[in-house]
Amino acid sequence: MRAFSSLLLLAILPTSLAVKSQDFKTCSQAGFCRRGRALSARAQESQSWRSPYSVDPSSIAVSPEQASFVAAVKSSLYPDVKFSLDVRVHDDGVVRVRMDEVDGLRKRYDEAASWALIAEPTISPDVKWAVGKKELRATYGPKKDIEVVVSYDPLTVTLYRGGKPQVVLNGRGLLHMEHFRTKAASEEKAPVEAPAEDSQVVMQVNNRAWFEGEEEDGFWEEKFGSWTDSKPKGPESLFIDITFPKHGHVYGIPQHATNLDLPTTTGDDAHFSDPYRLFNADVFEYNADSPMSLYGSIPFMHAHSTESTVAIFNAVASESWIDIGHSSATSTETHWMSESGILDVFIMPGPTPTDVFAQYSRLTGAPALPAHWALAYHQCRWNYISSDDVREVQKRFDEEDMPVDVFWLDIEYAEEHKYFIWDKKTFPDPVDMSHDVEAIGRKMVVIIDPHLKRTEDYPVYKEAKDLDVLVKTPGGENNYEGWCWSGSSAWIDFFNPGSWDWWTSLFKTEPGETWSWTESTVDTYIWNDMNEPSIFNGPEISMPRDNIHHGGWEHRDVHNINGMLLHNLTAQAVMMRTDPPRRPFVLTRSFYAGSQRFGAMWTGDNLGTWEHMTAGVKMVLANNVGGFSFAGSDVGGFFGNPEPEMLVRWYGVGIFSPFFRAHAHIDTKRREPYLLDEPYKSILRSFLRLRYSLLPVWYTAFRETSVTGLPVLRPHWVMFPKDEGGFSLDDQYFVGSSGLLVKPITQKGVTETSVYLPEDQVYYDYFTYEAYRGAPKGKSVTVPAALDKVPFLIRGGSIVPTRERPRRSSVLMKHDPFTLRVALDTKGTAKGELYLDDGETFSHRDGKFIWREFVAGKQNKGLLIRSTDLAAQKPGEAVNGVALPTYNGANEFANDMATVRVERVVVFGLSAKPKSVQGGGKELHWEYTPGVASNTKKQGTASVLVIKDPGVGVSSDWEIVVQV
Ligand code: GLC
Repeated sequence: MRAFSSLLLLAILPTSLAVKSQDFKTCSQAGFCRRGRALSARAQESQSWRSPYSVDPSSIAVSPEQASFVAAVKSSLYPDVKFSLDVRVHDDGVVRVRMDEVDGLRKRYDEAASWALIAEPTISPDVKWAVGKKELRATYGPKKDIEVVVSYDPLTVTLYRGGKPQVVLNGRGLLHMEHFRTKAASEEKAPVEAPAEDSQVVMQVNNRAWFEGEEEDGFWEEKFGSWTDSKPKGPESLFIDITFPKHGHVYGIPQHATNLDLPTTTGDDAHFSDPYRLFNADVFEYNADSPMSLYGSIPFMHAHSTESTVAIFNAVASESWIDIGHSSATSTETHWMSESGILDVFIMPGPTPTDVFAQYSRLTGAPALPAHWALAYHQCRWNYISSDDVREVQKRFDEEDMPVDVFWLDIEYAEEHKYFIWDKKTFPDPVDMSHDVEAIGRKMVVIIDPHLKRTEDYPVYKEAKDLDVLVKTPGGENNYEGWCWSGSSAWIDFFNPGSWDWWTSLFKTEPGETWSWTESTVDTYIWNDMNEPSIFNGPEISMPRDNIHHGGWEHRDVHNINGMLLHNLTAQAVMMRTDPPRRPFVLTRSFYAGSQRFGAMWTGDNLGTWEHMTAGVKMVLANNVGGFSFAGSDVGGFFGNPEPEMLVRWYGVGIFSPFFRAHAHIDTKRREPYLLDEPYKSILRSFLRLRYSLLPVWYTAFRETSVTGLPVLRPHWVMFPKDEGGFSLDDQYFVGSSGLLVKPITQKGVTETSVYLPEDQVYYDYFTYEAYRGAPKGKSVTVPAALDKVPFLIRGGSIVPTRERPRRSSVLMKHDPFTLRVALDTKGTAKGELYLDDGETFSHRDGKFIWREFVAGKQNKGLLIRSTDLAAQKPGEAVNGVALPTYNGANEFANDMATVRVERVVVFGLSAKPKSVQGGGKELHWEYTPGVASNTKKQGTASVLVIKDPGVGVSSDWEIVVQV
């Protein structure tokens, strides 16, 4: 469909207003969002607004260890409706607040958390709830400075630190769980008076109307465009206000194309008029600044100030809208409105960004450590049209000495878009073609979308139908039929456990009892697209909400999780292709909290405009702080034909993105990097080589993320949580803990740019050794940014390991020597890390890896540079809750690396010319170029000491002594 309209599109680019907003609901077109906002407006207008929800003190049942409690909650609006509240504190201090309707007409969907969480968290045995007359109170934390207070009437939950409120649930009285009702009962509309004894509930004559609105607005059947949502369950929405009284900045809740520091949606000067929407959708030609929903949803929000960071994860899977406002510069009020589901909110107490990332990843899992090759360059387009086309593209990369690791095939490889089935007219020899690509360690990625062409001669559809694992129409009897790339299609219901083993068996390269993909290789990896799901003739280009999934749940209940299940199952399938398993690679477009465990994501169909290039950087940062670091945008822009300058800048963005893939729409001109004229072609070659040389940095950053949950791309507020000047920065960022500070250029005609330095520290230009001093603290400096440069500084105090031999693929770099860049800080010291393993199996979990620390420190008047074993110093790490076996320094992988050398050590900012440089008792070869030393306040080119071939290995302990 979209392929056909794209010619028209090309004619009108560039524009940012192309989105077909009429295809997607605004808040005012979604009944529950209207109701939620109306409730909030009524609350604001009234002086005497008070939440009708209260805890019944007589019902409180504290667990025997006093670590958690349950209590009955009632609403004065509906005295007969029962709710239960369950509050518990996990052993890492995270507070979980759950509320559900009890004995209702139906059951609310309560499984969102079970898909997102890696395990049921352990309740802290040290926390004791004290039951008081007006509230329950628990005090905990190493300094006993955290307190959770649950007030009975009205019901509020407040997390305090040091006596100051940090997170307040229902502080504005907007909590509302619409109970299940019958249409007939609801139509009676009997007015309910406020309970006489509850004199504080000063409401109008009809208090229910006052709370829920005069009209039953969108309670039952709802229409949007030509679609009707039958809404057989009636209203079941959930509203909760969450206030951060001490935090003026909020981040996260990807995916939206907007600033990292989330702009407001309420208040007189609101940036957006609609709330942020979380409803996974295929938004064609999306806006570059908008709160509209996009392909994925992670309901995880950080709130930050110079004092602390806290966060919340709202485990809900239905469509949600979030209003954000600031009643003062130092507080944030949010209002979450969801179509269905239980209240299941996790409050992360921080108090630092690092703590919050640890707390969130203990809940939903740290990102998986990707295969090493997956961090290299990926070449994609819709479509490489034949096996020979693939071979030719590979040949051209090789001829032009441009590194590339992965070739991708989009939907046109598949006969009539029947995924897995090769179109033999164009791909007569898929296995041979894959082997040709794999010859120097390269990989293929092939697309598998979740819609199945409804034709009996398609074995995958036929088996799914026979297994009865397809999504059903309302009522649950018939298989749903919709329209996608393959025409009339059906969708697998991955919520049905009956689909799981079958799905994973499809990917086996050996014949089996059911159909399996024998015309594939184990070095072929997978791309899952259209998994929101995208359905061309469905409401909002997606699935009707009254469709039925396993267990009788409506699609509305599970919508935002739907895409994650395909990603999860496909990652498992890929892993099972070999024995022992290898690390999977699966790219997904749709995602939810927890998707970071299964692979990578990209920001979907961006436009080839400067505006979208800028937005892509912000979106990838938002995904990183949303716990999903392995993210990138289509390099070059999906739609359009970027001019050479734009394409070069886009590669500048790509080489500093965790996931680095060029991709283009079927109607665009070919734009592989070798096709450009000079000087662009050479610039792209040097950019690609730069990415490859920095793979050790990326891999080391991913290792850290896979253990700590700290993002690979770190915005300033994560690195310098107390430096207010950096809180809104989203056009520059750090790569892991490496000390590399990047500011990609995303505007036309730029020759220099301003880079913000957050501290009184020296930062060195990676290439020119120009030293910039961030003094006084929080200074911006001007940095050259000609087209052949991505402004890119090394923070003083860092040691950066690289590999600088140009190769055709990353696998060929396995035994290449290393360069260490030692960037001395103002005190003349530096340190850095290097993590390496075989890059594709799970043998690192058996201790087969090397993890080194490099430290440069002052010794007498000189400098001592040392390499030590970090793994031996930091044993006992755990990944996603699984403790790693004890590391063995003499492991097989370390042995394999024993001959790998450090071929060069480059020291920036030494204060004077050395008298000698010695390693292993011998004088080494070195060259010194004087310059401005790091510890002066002067700006200028730093001194550079290059130590050549110091005769040390990358995996062994060594010392180099520089005497000054
Ligand atoms: C979707 C994807 C895009 C892909 C196309 C064809 O638009 O977002 O990346 O090329 O489908 O599969």
